[in-house]
Amino acid sequence: MAKAREKNKFYVTTPVYYPTAKPHLGTAYTTIAADILARWHKLKGEETFFLTGTDEHGQKLDEAAKKAGKSPKEYTDVLVEEFKKAWKALNIQFDGFIRTTDKKHEENVQKLIKQIFDNGDIYKGTYKGLYCVPCETYWTEKDLVNGKCPSCNREVKEIEEEAYFFKLSEYQQKLLDFYEKNPNFILPKFRKSEIVNRIKEGLKDISFTRSKFKWGVEFPIDKNFVLWVWPDALTNYLSGIDWPNGKNFKKFWPADVHLIGKDIIFFHSILWPAMLMSAGIELPKSIFAHGWWTVNGEKMSKSKENVVDPLEIAGKYGVDTLRYFIFRATPFGQDGDFNEQALIDRHNNELANKLGNLVVRVTTLAEKYGIKKTPNKLLNNLKFEEIEKHIENYEIDKALGIIFEFIDICNEYVQREKPWETSYPAKGKLLYEVLSCIQAIAFLLWPFMPETCEKIAGNLGFEIKSFKDMTKPLKEGKINKSEILFEKIKS
Ligand code: MSP
Repeated sequence: MAKAREKNKFYVTTPVYYPTAKPHLGTAYTTIAADILARWHKLKGEETFFLTGTDEHGQKLDEAAKKAGKSPKEYTDVLVEEFKKAWKALNIQFDGFIRTTDKKHEENVQKLIKQIFDNGDIYKGTYKGLYCVPCETYWTEKDLVNGKCPSCNREVKEIEEEAYFFKLSEYQQKLLDFYEKNPNFILPKFRKSEIVNRIKEGLKDISFTRSKFKWGVEFPIDKNFVLWVWPDALTNYLSGIDWPNGKNFKKFWPADVHLIGKDIIFFHSILWPAMLMSAGIELPKSIFAHGWWTVNGEKMSKSKENVVDPLEIAGKYGVDTLRYFIFRATPFGQDGDFNEQALIDRHNNELANKLGNLVVRVTTLAEKYGIKKTPNKLLNNLKFEEIEKHIENYEIDKALGIIFEFIDICNEYVQREKPWETSYPAKGKLLYEVLSCIQAIAFLLWPFMPETCEKIAGNLGFEIKSFKDMTKPLKEGKINKSEILFEKIKS
């Protein structure tokens, strides 16, 4: 019973982002990935929920707000709007946007922590150690690289305080057993060994509270403390679908995939599952960690002033070109380098010359001569199942690769059969064949490039709603010539 239901739903999440700066290429990357997957599953007819949002508590945010002379709430209210605006501009259609300052979320966090406490997994002790404020993370001496935070390379602070600890150490074996039984839990699979090794080195209990500042969810066991930002943030994945009793929670939990960057894999593959195990809640089906973008070979950072603004790139080259490039150029899961020239080359060679040209060329002829129904052999070259398998495995670049191989086949067919030299009705039939393939291509590329594919659909007179309609016969007759889909970029 449960299995059948699960097949018909898809729940995908992004991290909740710190709204301390506007979105950049890294955050846009995860969010566009979630959008692609959500759109794909919608086309498959599955009920889909795509959750994103912002992580608004913690010392880092508190300090950023102070610096700007604002209260944390005033400060984040402005930036949250920037996030929403950016996602809209990038054609990202989420179903839920959660702010960790939402009252309902704060209550949920307290409920979850209470549940963990009642199960005997939280106790009071003293914490002494090193803390990185920007990363909101405790480190040991051993973790540091050249005396600095191993994650962001900034100074760490020595602190000592009373704290409530979560018994993470209790979950070592349980986590290892869980990974063993669920080989697709940590994805890509090559990331699993680093997590397993980390657990085998020994997991320490982890401080769940802070006492030196107040900007957080009140710790439900002891009012003198606020909850550490990470357990608060992770709980968004439950709150966002109305845990514990909401309709969406019942329909969508467990999440099918939490998409994250590789830097926050510890929190998602170790801490979060341990919290859920403790609270007796089913675990998500998988965690997918993508790689990091560098820019022209360098780490993207404010100080280097090389942070890529996705809206600027989209404004210059088009939203679809950005969405296409970041998933075509780099295997999802690996690190990638962002280079504008490489983006321009792909725009010109693949989007303008291959896809754009095919559509404009064939619709130009169809406008003149019309199309005539015929059995479609060309469509047999479409490897839908292979594309689907790649998407299921998060091999987004490979899925795009196969779709573009099919576009090549269509272009070669037009070149070889020369419909402009053929007489009617053979001419109309050839055009029908190719246009039907273009219809299928528009369905397949819609999750990646919705704007372009909707233009194609509008012109050919079909709607992109379900893969079931992907090969629906086109109406015979004249077709309007398509506008140019991708203007060539001079570099
Ligand atoms: N608030 C936490 C997440 C809590 S989730 C329960 C957080 N926020 S963040 O805003 O700092 O980062 C969000 C995401 O951006 C992370 O997944 C991180 O990997 C990603 N990226 C930040 N810089 C990046 C690149 N240069 N390249 C790709 N992704 C990068 O962490």
